[in-house]
Amino acid sequence: QLATTIGAFHFDNVLMNASGVHCYDLTQLHELEQSEAGSLTTKSATSAKRLGNPEPRYAKLALGSINSMGLPNEGLDYYLDFALTHQQQLPDQPIFMSIAGLTLEDNIAMAQKIEASDFAGLTELNLSCPNVPGKPQVGYDFDRTKYVLDTIFEFFTKPLGVKLPPYFDLAQFDEMAAILNQYPLVYVNTINSLGNGLWVDPTDDTVVIKPKGGFGGIGGQYAKPIALANVRAFSQRLKPEIQVIGTGGIYNGRDVYDLILCGASMVQVGSALYEEGPSIFARLKQELAAEMQAHGYHSIEDFRGKLKIM
Ligand code: DHB
Repeated sequence: QLATTIGAFHFDNVLMNASGVHCYDLTQLHELEQSEAGSLTTKSATSAKRLGNPEPRYAKLALGSINSMGLPNEGLDYYLDFALTHQQQLPDQPIFMSIAGLTLEDNIAMAQKIEASDFAGLTELNLSCPNVPGKPQVGYDFDRTKYVLDTIFEFFTKPLGVKLPPYFDLAQFDEMAAILNQYPLVYVNTINSLGNGLWVDPTDDTVVIKPKGGFGGIGGQYAKPIALANVRAFSQRLKPEIQVIGTGGIYNGRDVYDLILCGASMVQVGSALYEEGPSIFARLKQELAAEMQAHGYHSIEDFRGKLKIM
């Protein structure tokens, strides 16, 4: 009933973690495998292991979260080893691997390694990490995005998606979708966190995270209307071969339902997973099924993209 597909890949249900949340090491990844999630993604990797930014680098906010992790990760080989083991043990449960090179050269090196490996799942090229000092988000530079995709698709033949930052102007949706439509992408994942927000602790007038003077990516309920708009806008503009994964502001079954109404084929959970842990997937499945039943829908395809306008 909650099943979905992305490209040629089939998933038992539409739910999974947002990259960066509960996917740093084998312990967390195994907990996701054991959960009710329909799939999982690994933490965005760089070729070499990184420690990330100084702590505190995550804070819970009234309606979500702020983070400036700075791409702490175990390095691509660690996640590729996990992915290869996973697919041997659970070949009918495809997963996603996220890469976020600090340079194009690093993205090329990682994509070449994945291309040469036996990995048979989906690869996600993250164009939207806001948290590495001195490294602008590629997704806000349209010419650079084009150049990166030209370079990767010179050799990469496996199923590829991109993770985008949120956009706020209809002209940006037009321009970015026109670029993405030129490539054999399997999906677009929108949105990454709302980049470089800021929060003040009223008890002592300080910022709540240490890196970058307190600036960090905002997620949670703050992100939901932006996520809905970005999912909807790209669904309307992308060629049908490019599906949309919706991420941002998912706390309950109605949130999942809304992103699917806007066109999402799969839905990722970030801040709420961080706070509630992987048992959230069982709850979200129940709540989504109840929401669908209340509307008389029996499958995701019954209502995906069927947002009503006035
Ligand atoms: C980090 C944050 C992101 O939003 C992202 O896409 C990749 C990495 C981080 O700070 O680790």
